[in-house]
Amino acid sequence: MTTADNTGAGRVVLIIGGGSGIGETTGRLMGARGWRVAIADQDGAAAERVAASLGGYGLGMDVAVETEVERAAATIEDEFGAVHGLVVAAAIFQDVMPPDKLPMAVWDRTLQVNLTGTYLANRAFGSRMAKRGAGSIVNIASIAALGSMPVHAYGTSKAAVAHLTLNLAGEWGRAGVRVNCVSPGSTLVPRVEERLKSGRYAADPGTFTALGRIVRPNEVAEAIEFLVSDRASAITGVNLVVDAGWHVAGTWAQHGGVRPAPSQGGPSRA
Ligand SMILES: NC(=O)c1ccc[n+]([C@@H]2O[C@H](COP(=O)([O-])OP(=O)(O)OC[C@H]3O[C@@H](n4cnc5c(N)ncnc54)[C@H](O)[C@@H]3O)[C@@H](O)[C@H]2O)c1
Repeated sequence: MTTADNTGAGRVVLIIGGGSGIGETTGRLMGARGWRVAIADQDGAAAERVAASLGGYGLGMDVAVETEVERAAATIEDEFGAVHGLVVAAAIFQDVMPPDKLPMAVWDRTLQVNLTGTYLANRAFGSRMAKRGAGSIVNIASIAALGSMPVHAYGTSKAAVAHLTLNLAGEWGRAGVRVNCVSPGSTLVPRVEERLKSGRYAADPGTFTALGRIVRPNEVAEAIEFLVSDRASAITGVNLVVDAGWHVAGTWAQHGGVRPAPSQGGPSRA
């Protein structure tokens, strides 16, 4: 194992929302790179299953409930070790809806889990890291934080997560704690695969990216692992976009969209 393969060096990373999708993939990647992995998820059975397969620590926790997050912080640090890396990947999603159809209960719960939950997790674990003088946090926002979309609660919660990341990076920088965020584009996790199969997307999300394809979970996990690790030791307060060029391609719409490659019938570049 080279130093680049062993970014964890036996340190503890906690993945909140690591029971499935991007969080699970990140846990597996970081476990393979020498991190001791703790998984917390509202789905406690999934957290325990993923953690057990990595020889790690799993527990059920609702990130939106202050007492549960505080209890989890005390328990994990007592029973498994001081948390050096934190990834907050827990989130809930909403269907596309105009404001008059969006129930306030959906608005409230989305903000409570995605924004308040991210804040509670950062507060509990970041404060402990700051007291010890070392740590690295990665929050997960979304491309929905970067542009206009008809997911009013979800997009707003994610834009706030990106902003919260800036504030906390300033708050804890001198205490040796870095705080960054990753904004994935549409990523082919099992939940998204299921939505694609059941025709719940208006179109294949990959057609709207510069690269012409959807993002793979391990591509997001690589970005998260990089930011948590010491390889990103001078990076704090950034929002690293992993979107296969969704953001880039969007502004080409008024020019007919990004051009297909010559092999796909597009214009020759010669
Ligand atoms: N997959 C995508 O296309 C995509 C795109 C942009 C951003 N993201 C973001 O990436 C992150 C991971 O998403 P994913 O696609 O892997 O989703 P996912 O549904 O596969 O995983 C989310 C996990 O969070 C857990 N969770 C939900 N509510 C929770 C709560 N209150 N407390 C604790 N755990 C809770 C779920 O049980 C689940 O295991 C999310 O922040 C999501 O907003 C995903």
